[in-house]
Amino acid sequence: MSALDLEAPGRVGRLRDIARRAAADPASWGVSPRFDATARWYARLFAAGDHEAWLLTWLPGQSTDLHDHGGSAGAFVLVSGALTEETVHAGADGAALRSTSFTAGDARPFGSQHVHRIVNTSAEPAVSLHVYGPALTRMTRYRLQDGALRVLEIDRAGVAW
Ligand SMILES: [Fe+2]
Repeated sequence: MSALDLEAPGRVGRLRDIARRAAADPASWGVSPRFDATARWYARLFAAGDHEAWLLTWLPGQSTDLHDHGGSAGAFVLVSGALTEETVHAGADGAALRSTSFTAGDARPFGSQHVHRIVNTSAEPAVSLHVYGPALTRMTRYRLQDGALRVLEIDRAGVAW
């Protein structure tokens, strides 16, 4: 974890607990996960005063770009399958990606400055539940080029998702 991930451990831990509870209670979702080979499927499950929860599905090979969360902290929980998270770390030749694998039941809390990419590198579909606090308003997508993060695009709630 980076120092920024520790900015408010109580707050991030609370988001993780909310994600764990929601992931363990599919009857509360009000929607059944679907898989879409043309575009990753996602649905917002609920929004509360200071957070929101989304359900995401991942066919083998489906992924996000590197992205931040516009200043929101959050957590994701693997409902089923396996996902790989790639995060940015300083290396000898500049920034480089480091991979961590998560399987069903794992939870991954993250701070407000977290940048990551999520990919399903497995041969099976995966389902994950994500909580963000506060609710997402903006996400910047990046690519890693020559050891540095370059902005690809800024996506905004209500427009991009
Ligand atoms: Fe994310």
